[in-house]
Amino acid sequence: MGATVVSMGIHILDILGRYMNKIPEGQGVEIIEEIRLTVAGTAAGTSVDLAKLGANVIAMGAIGQDEPGNFIVDTMTRYGIETKYLARKSNVQTSCSMLTIRPNGARPAFHVPGASGEFNLDDVNWDAIANADYLHFGGTYLMAKMDGKPTGEVLKFAQEHGVVTTLDMIGMPRPDMLEILEPALPYIDYFMPGLEEAEMITGLKNRQDVIKFFLDRGVKHTVFKMGGEGSSIAGHGMDEIRLPAFKAKVVDSTGCGDSYCAGFIVGLSLGWSLEDAGRLGSACGALVVSGLGSDAGIKDLDSTIAFMKQAEPLPMSV
Ligand SMILES: Nc1ncnc2c1ncn2[C@@H]1O[C@H](COP(=O)(O)OP(=O)(O)OP(=O)(O)O)[C@@H](O)[C@H]1O
Ligand SMILES: [Mg+2]
Repeated sequence: MGATVVSMGIHILDILGRYMNKIPEGQGVEIIEEIRLTVAGTAAGTSVDLAKLGANVIAMGAIGQDEPGNFIVDTMTRYGIETKYLARKSNVQTSCSMLTIRPNGARPAFHVPGASGEFNLDDVNWDAIANADYLHFGGTYLMAKMDGKPTGEVLKFAQEHGVVTTLDMIGMPRPDMLEILEPALPYIDYFMPGLEEAEMITGLKNRQDVIKFFLDRGVKHTVFKMGGEGSSIAGHGMDEIRLPAFKAKVVDSTGCGDSYCAGFIVGLSLGWSLEDAGRLGSACGALVVSGLGSDAGIKDLDSTIAFMKQAEPLPMSV
């Protein structure tokens, strides 16, 4: 069995269809190629990828007492993910997204925040965290009751118990972005947002300035995801590692970032260098972008490593 990872945060049922350019007029019907349901979200999507890569995954978050919630539990259980710590809220629906994928892989979405917004400290199983190897916290800005100080409290507890912490988010432009994240920053070992999100939080545009901004505020490493441009890994007392993305047929970018986090965590857990962990993350991203849905493309660790070894790097322009 691989490393034990508590993956805490937003749990979303994604309903995705490809390809769509416009909503049909009136009550019109448009025939499309494919529609899927997937377990997704910055915590749950990463959980599925982690499980496929052989990690021992414990899910923590909140879902509703409804069909989407049942689907999430059933699907995660099939992947061998522990779901007993998922809180089932009675008066709110499971978080759901409808994603209408464009032919270029872009994904305009409709979202009901739902139960993830009700997830709070009373739902946290502290023993499970203390006994884990990693805590992946995913979904800052979409968890009204966990955002801010509670997030800091959970990450601090994890670090005090020798658990490595990673954090990813859904960047929603708002004036208090930094204020919300700040209590968590000193307790994050690997801060893993999209670079655009990190820029949004800081108001800075130069990547080196953005890296310094977060390292100065206590983050141990920044791991910025940059889409087809790849990623950047930095930390105290080391030079920035700039990694390319791998060439892939782009179908749908949903879940690329979540899968990068899963690959990176598994790479770390195997004792790999930061660079190689990032390469495994990139391989996961390239596999996920080549299919519909955040769980597409990745099969298991061996095939992902095999893909990584023969994958063609894309050029980096920034
Ligand atoms: N078009 C692409 N081609 C190849 N690889 C890609 C592509 N898009 C993303 N990836 C891979 O997936 C990784 C993560 O994707 P991305 O940078 O979009 O994450 P993100 O910013 O968290 O986005 P999101 O939250 O929208 O998934 C990238 O670092 C890259 O390695
Ligand atoms: Mg992301």
